[in-house]
Amino acid sequence: VVSCNSIFSSPVKDSFSKTDLCNKEERQGLEMSFSDKKPAEDESGRSKKKQKKEDAWRPEGPRDPIAMLKSLPESKQQEIQRALHLFSLGPSLPKTLQQAKKYTYRFWETQPVPRLGRNAVTHGPIVSGETSVRKEPYSLPQGFSWDTLDLSSPTVLRELCTLLNENYMEEDDNTIRFDFSLEYLQWALQPPKWLAQWHCGVRVDTNNKLVGFIAAVPADVRIYETEKRMVQVKFLCVHKKLRLKRMTPVLIRELARRVNQQGLRQAVYTASVMLPTPLSSCRYSWTRPLNLRKLKEVSYPGLRQDMNLQRAVKFNRLPKVTKTPGLRPMTKEDVAGIHSLLQANLLKFHLSPILSLQEVEHWLLPKENVIDTYVVQGDDGTLTDVVSFYSVSYKVLNHPVHTGLRAAHLLYIASAAADLMDLMEDTLVLVKSKGFDIISALDVMDNKSFLEKLKFSISNTNLHYYLYNWMCPNMSPDKVGLVLPN
Ligand SMILES: CC(C)(COP(=O)(O)OP(=O)(O)OC[C@H]1O[C@@H](n2cnc3c(N)ncnc32)[C@H](O)[C@@H]1OP(=O)(O)O)[C@@H](O)C(=O)NCCC(=O)NCCS
Repeated sequence: VVSCNSIFSSPVKDSFSKTDLCNKEERQGLEMSFSDKKPAEDESGRSKKKQKKEDAWRPEGPRDPIAMLKSLPESKQQEIQRALHLFSLGPSLPKTLQQAKKYTYRFWETQPVPRLGRNAVTHGPIVSGETSVRKEPYSLPQGFSWDTLDLSSPTVLRELCTLLNENYMEEDDNTIRFDFSLEYLQWALQPPKWLAQWHCGVRVDTNNKLVGFIAAVPADVRIYETEKRMVQVKFLCVHKKLRLKRMTPVLIRELARRVNQQGLRQAVYTASVMLPTPLSSCRYSWTRPLNLRKLKEVSYPGLRQDMNLQRAVKFNRLPKVTKTPGLRPMTKEDVAGIHSLLQANLLKFHLSPILSLQEVEHWLLPKENVIDTYVVQGDDGTLTDVVSFYSVSYKVLNHPVHTGLRAAHLLYIASAAADLMDLMEDTLVLVKSKGFDIISALDVMDNKSFLEKLKFSISNTNLHYYLYNWMCPNMSPDKVGLVLPN
């Protein structure tokens, strides 16, 4: 355990300006990309005539690379993006522990997170003790400002939606994008006791455009035997044109400062990239097709290639109706019953949320196109089982027929009476009947017991769970009882 003056961040470089974004050329480049402002005159002072002569060899049309890209049809842009991805020479984060050990994490090495390659045997904070929290926000490069997003304003909520939908990309080839709804973002970002100052945005001064975001929501979490009030970190996003300029460390530091101000010192978060140091690593994610024809038509990645459509449809066929007696949608009256059911079930795991009644209501009470929950009620009226899934929409780009995809993500499933397999198969039937095209789940909790049997297929990416400023032994995914919706 290291003692340090500041809990969340060590006294290190506190802005992404100095080395990374503050030089004049880059700033001008950025201003160009966000405000479409053209320099009045050539910087070197060359005459317009001379410039014209020098440019004579160039083809007609816009010369700004961004403008050139924009002038291409969307399909061409996607092709270029695919090619860039394939031949990318740019820096990319390590994918495996082996690679990570050889990589220098300039930012994360300054943070109170466990060092790579060591499995802790003790439990506790990495930095502890009473500390003073920095009063002023971390500095941003000239031309950028912090903004606490007021999500009660529909305009602001829409701006956040636009930032995420255009930049929180799902597929590298830019053919399928998130299509978060306003209702979904409110659900994900405004649980009981949410704080506006933890919805932390970065804007461009000249046009007020939102270009960066990070959020935290409060949560009580049990880690092994310890119960801790902490935050769950969500929706870290940097505008595509500002990537690799080290805005992320500043966003994280500033959010940590704001969380520290409320007396909280720990955070839990997930990421598909390998950072120091995963508490647990699970598969992200197991998916189960429901509308095969459509998924094939949009070339949904990860579908089994070894079957033709007809065989695949047959292979994935589901019963028409559910089989568990007493299975019905959750109502507000079920909150207390679900609360005790979930709390008893979650005790089995080493990492799990401690939910209040209000949180059960917020996270689970059905909201159209956001969250669905079903319960099983026994003959004596008691609730014996619960299953919930949240809903994320995707935009399909550049397809002649399909414009969107609907995916359900398994949140919680807990059964005290029904067979877990049967309950999950019923869930697939319900999800399909609600018009979802695909369902996904993580191999956390007891999910491994039904994933393969119910024809979920594994993806080749991982989802890592991390704790900030907490050391404890790592755990296998089946000991993780926490799912963090995006
Ligand atoms: C994730 C994202 C914000 C990273 O931005 P970036 O421009 O590539 O990275 P920056 O130059 O700003 O910062 C680099 C630092 O951020 C860290 N970083 C990158 N992705 C991260 C993540 N998902 N979580 C935490 N830290 C991350 C890097 O490790 C690096 O620090 P290091 O020097 O210690 O290695 C950006 O790629 C993005 O918005 N992606 C789409 C949304 C997304 O995937 N969000 C993350 C969900 S978990």
